[in-house]
Formats: sequence, C-alpha cells, structure tokens
Amino acid sequence: MFDRPGSGERAILVCVGLGRAPEADRIEEFQALARSAGAVVLETLAPTRKSADPRFLIGTGKVEELRQLVVELDADLVVIDGTLSPSQERNLEKELKCRVLDRAGLILDIFAQRARTFEGKLQVELAQLQHMSTRLVRGWTHLERQRGGSIGLRGPGETQLETDRRLIGKRIKALNDRLDKVLVQRETTRQERKRAEVPTIALVGYTNAGKSTLFNRLTRAEAYAADQLFATLDPTVRRLHLAPGLETALADTVGFVRDLPHELVAAFRSTLQESREADLLLHVIDAADPERADRITQVNEVLDSIGASQLPQIAVYNKIDRTGEASRAETDEHGLIDRVWLSAHSGAGLELLLQALHQRLGVDLCRCTLHIPPRAGRARARLFEAGAVVGQRMLDDGALELDVSLRRPDLERICREDGIALPAECAPCAGEGRFLQSTGSQVTRGAA
Ligand code: GTP
Repeated sequence: MFDRPGSGERAILVCVGLGRAPEADRIEEFQALARSAGAVVLETLAPTRKSADPRFLIGTGKVEELRQLVVELDADLVVIDGTLSPSQERNLEKELKCRVLDRAGLILDIFAQRARTFEGKLQVELAQLQHMSTRLVRGWTHLERQRGGSIGLRGPGETQLETDRRLIGKRIKALNDRLDKVLVQRETTRQERKRAEVPTIALVGYTNAGKSTLFNRLTRAEAYAADQLFATLDPTVRRLHLAPGLETALADTVGFVRDLPHELVAAFRSTLQESREADLLLHVIDAADPERADRITQVNEVLDSIGASQLPQIAVYNKIDRTGEASRAETDEHGLIDRVWLSAHSGAGLELLLQALHQRLGVDLCRCTLHIPPRAGRARARLFEAGAVVGQRMLDDGALELDVSLRRPDLERICREDGIALPAECAPCAGEGRFLQSTGSQVTRGAA
C-alpha cells in the first residue's frame, strides 16, 4: 500500500506525441488549460514515441528525466496531455513521487473550480465521481485529509476502496436523482419561454472566444468573464430587448474544447441542450486566434454531434481590437447578415450584430396604430408588458390610440383575445438598416 502523493500548483507538463511530434498549438492550448486550473507551469516536455508504453505511457528514459526535473524544480504536479490508465497514473506517481494527472483529470479540476450554479456543481461532482470510480484501485489510501486547494484534489476527494465503491455508487445515484429534478425544472422554464414565443439566441464557441463578454455587453448583465478557459460552466439565460415588441432570450453556454472527457460530455448534455433548441446560434470566434479556422471546425463538429448543425448561425468574429480590423458585416446569398466582425470589449461593431439579430428575428414584426376602447384595459396592459408601445394618445371618449410594434402572431393573439380590431395592413419593420445609417458601419455581400 502507498499513500498517493499530495498535489500543488507547481507543475511540469508532458505533451506526448504518439507516432509524430506534438503540434505547437496543441502544446500551447494545454499550457493554457493548465494555467486555467491555477497551475504555475515550470517546464513543458514534448516527447515523441512510436507507441504508448504500457506501464508509464511515456518511455522509462523520460520517466527518469522527469523524476530528476521534479526534484530540481521542486514540482508537485505532473500533468500529461493524454489518457492515463489508472495503473499508469499510479506507476508514474510511485516513480515521480508527486501527483500525476491526465488531461481528463485536469479538465475536471477546472470544471470543479468554476461551476457556480447548483446544477453546474451537481454536474461536475457527478463527472468527477464517475471519473474516480474507474480509478479506484487497491493501493491508494486515505486522501480525504489532503483535500482542498490543490489541483486534482478539489471536488469529492478519494477514500478507501471497498466502502468507497459502495458510497460512490450511492452518491452517484443521489446526484443523478437531483439532477433529474433540476432538468425537469429547466425544461419547464424552456417550455414557458416557447409558449410565450420568445425566440432564443444561444452563444456558442470555443472556450475563451469572448462569449460571456459579448453576453454582458448585449444584456448589460454581470455574467462572469475572466481570462481563463472555461470561465462559463452554466448556461445563463437573460432577456435581450432588440426593438419595441421584439423580446428575445439570450443564452450563454459552456465553451467547447477538443477532447472533452466523456464523463463531462454526458454530464453537460443539459448545458448544450440550450444551444440545440435555440432559434439562432451566435458562433463567437476569437478573430485574433491563429488557430481560429481549426477552432471553428471543432465547434461545428460538437454542434453536429448534439444535432444543432442545421440551426441558423451567425459567425461573430470577436476581438477585432486585437487584430486591428474595422468592424464590418457580410451577407449570404439571401442578403442575410451571416458574419460580423466586432469587439465585445470596445463595443465596436455591436450595432451590426444587433442589426443581424433584428433582421433574422424581427421578420414578422409589425407596426400599426390600435384603437383601444376603455373596456379593453387588459389588452392595453398586455401591450405595455410586451414592451410594444411606442406612442400613445388619449381620445375624447376615454379611448386610447396606441402606436405599437410587435410580432404579428403576438399582436393577432392579443387583439383576438381582447376583442380589438387589428388593421388589415401592418407595416413590416424588420432589418431596415436603421442601425447602419446612424453609425456608418459597413455591410458587404459575399465570402470572407
Ligand atoms: P469560456 O467561459 O471559457 O467559454 O470563455 P468565453 O468565451 O465566455 O470568454 P470570456 O468572455 O470569458 O472572454 C475571455 C477573455 O477574452 C477575457 O479576458 C475577455 O476580457 C477577453 N475578451 C473578450 N472579448 C474581447 C474583445 O473584444 N477584445 C479583447 N481584446 N479581449 C476580449
């Protein structure tokens, strides 16, 4: 029996290339991931091997080199960019006498630190327990006392084998039950939104692309934004008022990353569900990222895998303040804006995005004048509640004349239910380019 070594923040990273040298961008992303978990990266090794070593994944020569480095640099954590079997993890820890994590363990740790809502916390704990239950092997003893503060030890911790298997099983079941309840609640809210015919826009994109910053900018909400990967773990839904009578729901979702541990993909299905059921996806892209083409493909692959690839999508190239580009928009062959270059930080180009949203979601927006007799107080209240009233005049007989702007189906419903005459002709007012004239921003047609 041996006590599993404790962990800390001083880390050595190992990016193993099997069959070929690991790519530079992959190494950089892994370093960013480790820093996201709060690690201080002391050294990064990038060995190449023909095939994985069954005992250590890396070769024995590398293990020896690592052992010396751990002592020399006083490291307390080694993180391997790959998947370690439980026995490889244990063999490495025995040799290196320090904590060893693989990619999945690292990502789980980041998720454990970042989950903020009740549902997010439940999901992360579930994923960690599932990950841990595959790793409970004889030889790792009491670790609960080492819990807290250190990478790979946050979350539920580890305890002794036999009792713990049973306890973990029980806890997993309890968490699943609670999550099911939360999911039912979330489903109810989503159905309510649907019933109210509020279109939903979901922000999707690779982690760190700037989704939360854009979300805040658009809704002026204080959702959490930080220069760390995975700053968002829970979908946050806020109301976005696009125009009089045009209310939408904007959902911020978890950032995508390649090779997400499968425990997390399953656990976060509900988070991604939000994007699957959206009316429109805003695919936020870091325009300053040299790997942006690759990232776009990866995000589209994930969208495909959750059945969201057919949804209308607007590509938002963010962070133009870093690239020095001017804000602009491009349209598809139908004249619909499908690409916008902007800066969520400075706000440049935001009006183009608003115009694009207005163009897509305001298709059936109508503008007209309604005559509201004194008895129709309910209709009046409903129109004000929907934010549809843009002008009002009191008439001599106590009736009201309201200038309204609202989506045609909502307008028809309110008028029908409250016995108000709806003018046969309503002026459509979607996508008129009114944002553009005021700012002088540019919209062009054609490919990037
Ligand atoms: P995850 O939650 O990890 O998926 O990230 P996210 O896509 O929500 O990114 P977030 O909004 O947290 O932004 C990531 C970093 O990029 C933060 O440091 C932001 O301040 C920065 N950022 C976002 N938008 C811009 C921008 O327009 N310009 C610049 N220069 N930085 C930006």
